[in-house]
Amino acid sequence: MNSREIRQKFLSFFEERGHKVVTSSSLVPDDPSVLLTTAGMQQFKKYFTGELDAEKDFGSLNTTSIQKSFRTSDIDEVGDESHLTFFEMFGNFSFGGYFKEEAIRYGYEFITKVMGLEIDYVTVFDPKKVSHDDWRAGVPFDEESYNFWKKIAPEVDVRREGVDNFWGPTGSEGPCGPTTEIYVNGALRQAQGKPPVEVWNIVFNQFYCDSLKKLTPLKIQGVDTGMGLERLVMVSQDVPTIFDTDLFASFLSEISLEMPIKIRRIAADHARGIVFLISDGVRPSNKDAGYVLRRLVRRFVMYSEKYKFDSNILLGGVVREYGDFYDNLSKELILEVFSEERKKFLETLDKGIKELEKLQNIDAVSAFSLFSTYGLPYEVIKEVGSEKAKNLTREDFDKEFEKHQEISRAGQEKKFGGHGLILDTGELKAGNEEELKKVLRLHTATHLLQAALRKVLGSEVGQAGSDITVDRTRFDFTFPRKLTPEEISKVEKLVNDVIAEDLPVQKIIMPKEEAEKTGALYFFKEKYPDPVNVYFVGKDIDSAFSKEFCGGPHVTHTGEIGHFRIKKEESVGAGLRRIRGVVE
Ligand code: SER
Repeated sequence: MNSREIRQKFLSFFEERGHKVVTSSSLVPDDPSVLLTTAGMQQFKKYFTGELDAEKDFGSLNTTSIQKSFRTSDIDEVGDESHLTFFEMFGNFSFGGYFKEEAIRYGYEFITKVMGLEIDYVTVFDPKKVSHDDWRAGVPFDEESYNFWKKIAPEVDVRREGVDNFWGPTGSEGPCGPTTEIYVNGALRQAQGKPPVEVWNIVFNQFYCDSLKKLTPLKIQGVDTGMGLERLVMVSQDVPTIFDTDLFASFLSEISLEMPIKIRRIAADHARGIVFLISDGVRPSNKDAGYVLRRLVRRFVMYSEKYKFDSNILLGGVVREYGDFYDNLSKELILEVFSEERKKFLETLDKGIKELEKLQNIDAVSAFSLFSTYGLPYEVIKEVGSEKAKNLTREDFDKEFEKHQEISRAGQEKKFGGHGLILDTGELKAGNEEELKKVLRLHTATHLLQAALRKVLGSEVGQAGSDITVDRTRFDFTFPRKLTPEEISKVEKLVNDVIAEDLPVQKIIMPKEEAEKTGALYFFKEKYPDPVNVYFVGKDIDSAFSKEFCGGPHVTHTGEIGHFRIKKEESVGAGLRRIRGVVE
């Protein structure tokens, strides 16, 4: 079956069973707690929590989609047989319409009857397989799923697994729950001794997980399933890797077969990532999604230079392959954005490579210097440096990045009273001692403001942006409506009460995972290196009024802030509010 037919069969199967077909949302999500869309359920998060009504918006409690997804966590794995950055995900969802029995039956029928595949085995969640101190250890054994599998498909081997069979939440909080996963293998892969592939992840959203990792049952029991299109096509077409499917054939044929297989795969993956990120509005930069795109483009350009393939033809091939399914792919625009970034990179690439070649051994310090001076991303240094860079790890590189930021901050502070900027963290800037004091007061006040907003309006308030100048703080956050005057006074009062208490502002450095468990807020998790700095306001972290992942610096006690006042509250887009505040 070709991939076009498989797409059609999936959507029709669920449409015939009362699901509304919903188009893919953008790779750049509305949800500010995640960098890029990583799963089909993201656009439906508010239907799972009951904040939005599916019946009203879709005319059905059940939906189905093919969602564009992007996972940066897999970037270092790309080049093997199955990892991708950009991929598409089939999904069927229910927001209180049906639950475990139907979801398992649909999964079973689609795989075995429609696709004609044999299920190798399935897995269900069992807390016995979870370490006792894990936050999911208290979730009961998913006996219902186990029993439904036994009833619906007695021939299928049902295995019990631990945390891999518990999904979510995406971002710091949200719906989550146990999953049942379906594993399949094609005859060829089996003959080659390859392990079965997890094709389908069927999640039962039974809980809401808050930022302290506390689980409370959801009012609506939801179904959220995700099946990687590329993997399904691979087992269905009975080919050894995803790159051998028809999804890649048409544009991979543009690259010479002489090229090392790993490079072909990386080029194919990155070409798709570049096309889709640019089409969804991302532009190369040193921040967030822009930085992800920059890394893809630069590595891709490096290979096209080294192995002499025509990047424009390859990018054009991706547009041709996907143009029928996505109507926002403009070849002209993609090539324009790509060429500009390519040009910038090539201007310094030669010099950078010459410097790199002079080095005997590339460690994190020299790698970071190549990045900051010549714009060589980690992947490029690793690749070109080859043997010389064999001990370089992404973790050390990221640590160096953070250290560098701290050193430059300390350097700026040393110059205290001198000329030019004495503080420049990118976010905070001050030119003299007086400005510095003001900016620090506003910075700490901004943390208090966020904590106060969440206390008054609820945890749906999430940071969407912040900008601090010597005159004011500007804080953008998610919230669906205008604040009432009473709410504004309450928020102001809460901030000023904490200021009056003159609480200490403290920093601790801790492993990211532990920091997340404390409930500390963060803007973009990916932005912070591991371990992270957590700034908290209060006597200890548990009882703290505010805690956030943050690079600092801050005042040492809240009393230094003075009086905080909200000057303006306004809308800056759908579901987004902006507050301007001052300290006096
Ligand atoms: N949210 C789950 C996943 O991404 C199922 O869709 O795997």
